[in-house]
Amino acid sequence: MNADVFTLFPEWFEWFRAQRHVENALALGHSLDAIDFRGSTPLKWGQVDDTPFGGGAGMVLRVDVMEAALRARYGEDPVSVRSRRRVVALTPGGRTLDDALAGELAGEPSLTLLCGRYEGFDQRIVDHFCTDEISIGRYVLAGGELAAMVVLDTVLRKLPGALGHADSAVEESFSEALDGAPEYPHYTRPASWRGWEVPDVLLSGHHERIRQWRHEQSRRRASS
Ligand code: ADE
Repeated sequence: MNADVFTLFPEWFEWFRAQRHVENALALGHSLDAIDFRGSTPLKWGQVDDTPFGGGAGMVLRVDVMEAALRARYGEDPVSVRSRRRVVALTPGGRTLDDALAGELAGEPSLTLLCGRYEGFDQRIVDHFCTDEISIGRYVLAGGELAAMVVLDTVLRKLPGALGHADSAVEESFSEALDGAPEYPHYTRPASWRGWEVPDVLLSGHHERIRQWRHEQSRRRASS
């Protein structure tokens, strides 16, 4: 996957890129670039936003600024960029991110994430340059950067080889393997601690019974 994030704070992503699963994904040939859209603004003094028509509080990211940034990066009209790569605006009101959406994005060869600040995007950015609007939850962040990292975190860890262990992203919370239910509980040594015992079945070595017990626990968590 080749992922581009358009942001006013590209340096925030240096920390993110250094995380183990992200490093693993990059070492496997995937890419993650953070692009400062202030750097390509056609306006004076690095201006990227403006006051909203109709009045109201806050500032809105300008469509001409976002167009210039996308053109500079992809060398073509952003209206056609979106026909060949997924372009996502991060907004509080977008489609809520879940495991299924993360899986869908992980299957894309390329992904562009646009991070808003202030009151968000001029609607024409979303309508004409984007394929999706994604929210990480029904609350308002000061900007899209943390949301972009959340999206990338869950997407990149799904790429084969990004996690150390090949099975770790298969049978986990909300996955198809568990019919969308939360994951079953895990235990490790010591088997007994302050009288808190690990369930016997997990120590039994009986793989089929363990599998059944785990799926039962997962279903129970889903219904509680
Ligand atoms: N930008 C501001 N709030 C957001 C949210 N909850 N999800 C995605 N992007 C956002």
